[in-house]
Amino acid sequence: MAGYISDNKKKITTHTLAEMKQAGEKISMLTAYDYTTAGIVDRSGMEIILVGDSAANVMAGYSTTLPITLDEMIYHGKCVTRAVNRALVVLDMPFGTYQGDSSVGVASAIRMIKETGVDAIKLEGGEEIIETVRKIVNSSIPVMGHLGLMPQSINKYGNYGLRAKDDAEADKLIRDARLLQEAGCFALVLEKIPAELAERVSRELDIPVIGIGAGGGVDGQVLVIQDMLGMNNDFKPKFLRRYANLEEVMTGAIQAYIGDVKSKDFPNESEQY
Ligand code: KIV
Repeated sequence: MAGYISDNKKKITTHTLAEMKQAGEKISMLTAYDYTTAGIVDRSGMEIILVGDSAANVMAGYSTTLPITLDEMIYHGKCVTRAVNRALVVLDMPFGTYQGDSSVGVASAIRMIKETGVDAIKLEGGEEIIETVRKIVNSSIPVMGHLGLMPQSINKYGNYGLRAKDDAEADKLIRDARLLQEAGCFALVLEKIPAELAERVSRELDIPVIGIGAGGGVDGQVLVIQDMLGMNNDFKPKFLRRYANLEEVMTGAIQAYIGDVKSKDFPNESEQY
C-alpha cells in the first residue's frame, strides 16, 4: 500500500487521519509556533502541526503553560497558518479559556478558528470539560483531546511525572478517552502514561491516538520541535529522542560571526555595495 507521504500532496484533513489509522499508517505530529519554522516543518511532510501552548515555555520563557493568553495563542496560530499548505494545523486552547462556562469555551474556540485559519483546536481534560467539547464540536470545529499528563493542571498535581500509574487513574483515563470519542473528538493526545495503557486506549478507540512519552503502540507521535532539534539540552526526559544538536550548531555559528565581526573579516568586498 502506498504511503500518504510519498504519493499524497493534498491538504491533510481529519478524514485523512482517520484513513491513516484504518490503514495502520503512523501519524507524525510536531509543534511549531512561527512562520519560518512552520514552513520548514510543512515542506518536510509532517501530517499535523501543533501550535502548542508549550509556546509559553519554549517561546516566551515561562516555567509553566498557564500564563499564555488567548491573544498570544492567536498570534502564534496566525504566524503558522501563513506558512502551511499541507499539514493539518491544530491550535491549543490556553488555560482559562474553556475550563469554566461552556459558552465561554465555545466563544474562545470560534475566535481561534476565525482569526487564525487553523483547522482544529486542542484542549486538556476529560469528563470535567465534556459539555464544552460537545458544544465546540457542534459548532463544526474539529477538536483534539489531551489526557494523561496535562501541563495546565500542574498546580493540581505539583509535578510533571508519569500519569495513570495506578488502576483508579488508569480506569479514569480509559473512561475519559471513550467520552471524548463519543463527544466527537477527531483525535486524542496521550502524554506521559505507561505504554501498555496507551496501546490499550489506541486499540479500543476508533479515532487516532497520538502519543508523547506513551510508547510505540499508539497511532502516531508528537514532540516539541525545540526538544527534538536539541535547542534546549537541559531538558532530557526519557521519552525524548534528539535528532540534532542545534544548540551546538547555533552557538558555533553565532560565535564564528562574532569572531568575524571583531577580526573585520565580515563583511568582505563581495558582501558590500
Ligand atoms: O503544548 C504542547 O506542545 C503539547 C504537546 C506536548 C502535545 O500539548
